[in-house]
Amino acid sequence: EKGTYPHYMLKEMDEQPSVVRKIIQAYSNADGELTIDDNILEALKQADRLYIIAAGTSYHAGLIGKQYFEKIAGIPVEVHISSEFGYNMPLLSEKPLFIFISQSGETADSRQVLVRVKEELGYPALTITNVPGSTLSREADYTLLLHAGPEIAVASTKAYVAQVAVLAVAAYVAGKVAGRELDMDLKQELAIAANAIQTIVDSKNELEQIAEDYLKIARNAFFIGRNLDYYVSMEGALKLKEISYIQAEGFAGGELKHGTIALIEDGTPVFAVVSQEQVALNIRGNVKEVVARGANACIIAMEGLEEEGDRLVIPKVHSLLTPLVTVVPLQLISYYAALHRRCDVDKPRNLAKSVTVE
Ligand code: F6R
Repeated sequence: EKGTYPHYMLKEMDEQPSVVRKIIQAYSNADGELTIDDNILEALKQADRLYIIAAGTSYHAGLIGKQYFEKIAGIPVEVHISSEFGYNMPLLSEKPLFIFISQSGETADSRQVLVRVKEELGYPALTITNVPGSTLSREADYTLLLHAGPEIAVASTKAYVAQVAVLAVAAYVAGKVAGRELDMDLKQELAIAANAIQTIVDSKNELEQIAEDYLKIARNAFFIGRNLDYYVSMEGALKLKEISYIQAEGFAGGELKHGTIALIEDGTPVFAVVSQEQVALNIRGNVKEVVARGANACIIAMEGLEEEGDRLVIPKVHSLLTPLVTVVPLQLISYYAALHRRCDVDKPRNLAKSVTVE
C-alpha cells in the first residue's frame, strides 16, 4: 500500500536505502560475510564468459554488472538487449553462463532468449529477479532475488538500485572465491551507499527545484556522463522520457562532438553526472562545450570532485558503487518534472509494468 504517499513511485524511491540494507542482510552468512548460493558460485566459476540479457532499465543495470564482473571478478561479460539477441546472437564462448536480469521475471523478450539458450542450446542460466516464482525464475537453473519488495509504479526505481547492488555482491563474492585481491570491503561500502541514498531522498525540495528550473518548459533534455556515469545517464534519460514525456537522450560525453551537439540550443537542459575521478576533467570539458552553445547545464557531482557552480553534490561513495547513488537524483528530478506537467506518474501512457508480448 502506498499509505500517505501520493504515488507509489515516490514511496519506492524512498525505500531505496532500506532495500540496499536488506540486500546486505539477505546476502550475509552467519559470520556476517557476504555470500551467495554455492551452486551459483560454482556456475560462475565454471563459466568462461557471462552473457547478460535484459530489457529497459534492467539492461542499464546489466551494463553496470558487466563492469563489476570484469573488474571485480575478472570474468569477461557481454550485455545484450533481449529483443535483439535472437537475430543478433553473437558467437558464443565455450562455457557461457546466461544471466537474465528482470524485475518482474515475466518479460517475454527475455523469456524467449531463455527458452532458446536453455532448451535448444542446453546452456546454464541464472535469473536475477524481484519476483520469486516468476516465469524466468522457474525456468532458469538458478535465481538471485532482489529483495526490493513489490514494485508497483511502472517506472522502475528501487528494483534498479537492487539489481546494481545484487550484481555487485555476486561479482564480489565470485572474485573473492577466485582468490582475487579485492581492495574493498563491499559490505561496508554498500552501507555507506545506503546512507548516501538516504541523504539524497531527504533532499526532495532541492530536487523539485531543479526539476522546475531545468525542465518546466523543456521540450527535450540530455544526460551525459562517462564510464559508469554514462550508463546512469541512459537510465536518467529513460526515467524522464517514460514519466514526463520529455524527449531525452543519455549518451557518453565523448560522443557529443560526433553529432548530438548539433541539437544544443539556447536553454537546452543538459544533466551531467560527475562521479568518476579519472574522467571528471573530460566530462567537465563536455559541459563547457554545451554551455558555450547555450545549454542550461546541471552538474551533479560527487563530493571530492565538486566545483563552484555545480548544482548538486552527492555524498562520496566507492567509485564502483556510484550508480546506486547518482541515479537517485535523476529519478527524483524526473518525478517532479512529471508532476509539474500533471502526468500520471505511476501509470504512464502506453506502458505496462510487465511486458509479456514480444
Ligand atoms: C523502465 C522500466 C522498463 C523495464 C523493462 C524490463 O522504468 O520499468 O524499462 O525495466 O520493461 O522489465 P523487467 O525488468 O521486468 O524485465
